[in-house]
Amino acid sequence: MLGRIVLAAVTLAASLIWPSGPSDDLRNGLAVTPPMGWNSWNQVGCDGLTEQVVRDAADTLVRTGMRDAGYRYVVVDDCWQALTRAADGSLEPNPDRFPHGIAALADYVHSRGLLFGIYAVPGSGTCAMYNSGYPATGIGSLGHEEQDARTFAAWGVDFLKYDWCYADTHDGLDEQAAFAKMRDALERTGRPILYSISEYGAQQPWNWGRGVANMWRTTNDLSANWDSVTSTIDQQANIPTGSPGAWNDPDMLQVGNGTLTPDESRAHFSMWAILNAPLFVGTAPSTEDLVTLENREVIAVDQDFAGTQGKRLTTAGNTEVWGKPLSGGGYAVVLLNRGDAPATMSADIPGNWQVRDLWLHKDVPDTRATVPAHGAVMLRLTPA
Ligand code: GLA
Repeated sequence: MLGRIVLAAVTLAASLIWPSGPSDDLRNGLAVTPPMGWNSWNQVGCDGLTEQVVRDAADTLVRTGMRDAGYRYVVVDDCWQALTRAADGSLEPNPDRFPHGIAALADYVHSRGLLFGIYAVPGSGTCAMYNSGYPATGIGSLGHEEQDARTFAAWGVDFLKYDWCYADTHDGLDEQAAFAKMRDALERTGRPILYSISEYGAQQPWNWGRGVANMWRTTNDLSANWDSVTSTIDQQANIPTGSPGAWNDPDMLQVGNGTLTPDESRAHFSMWAILNAPLFVGTAPSTEDLVTLENREVIAVDQDFAGTQGKRLTTAGNTEVWGKPLSGGGYAVVLLNRGDAPATMSADIPGNWQVRDLWLHKDVPDTRATVPAHGAVMLRLTPA
């Protein structure tokens, strides 16, 4: 009964939150479902970024079938830039790292049936200049917004990650005004460019991001360990839902990285899917990673928005039940075990359901399951 009340409340809350909200100035028609792709940062960070890494990532997406599973955007994160702007003020690629230039790289990515993304910042410095010792100056877009947007469009960019990076303290900028400025500059290029903003949840972008961007980070950088995954999950529990064209972004996937075990990775991926989160991989995937990242039944939950992203329905000790409605009248459920021992769990969702375990890829009698330590079971409930 509790489950039904909670789900009803969640559905009602969603209908109140969406599609109204801040004025919908961003009408690029993109990100109808949560965007998916690859981003360089979690794989190679600043120091390892080269055009070869990006080409290899594009090749990997095609060869492994990830592209066909939905991973379409290939995004070059920070540290692609030359150390200064050109004489005419335009951005240029670092010639040692991208000897053939960005337009050629975008062409290559497009030739593989993929879309191409890049990284910039609203202030004067990128995060890697402040945090990773990237020895550049003056490569932020402050005062160059129109010029940079035109450069990106001319290169064939399809996605821009626009990352705050202390533009308030260093440059005295106002977030919403600065993000809107690049939104408008992108729009004026006439090229559809998915707009991803990042201010780490500092000013509750879930309250104003719709209309400004297609997705906004809700939290600080996700690290490749279980504590970071669970604390990030906690920060998604009480924020308003994203919706088509405007998604909450709990940061890029760390599947395949750091200390995450296979169970932890599956739990991480399950949770991002039930949250309708953008899915950006940042690893050279092992065979085991691919089993996780290419689980089409889980991806289908991520891509299905039926009024609200997932909510935490119940908590008991170290266990939590998360759920969300699916189109067609069903529900997706994640049984999340944060504890150090296996736990027997179930979800009490009243109704007659056909229950499918999305990791076992088979129908099961009911929602009762033994969930591994630091793990999750993901279920799909279809009206019986
Ligand atoms: C910030 C962002 C990361 C990444 C780096 C690049 O930390 O949150 O996702 O873009 O900057 O420097």
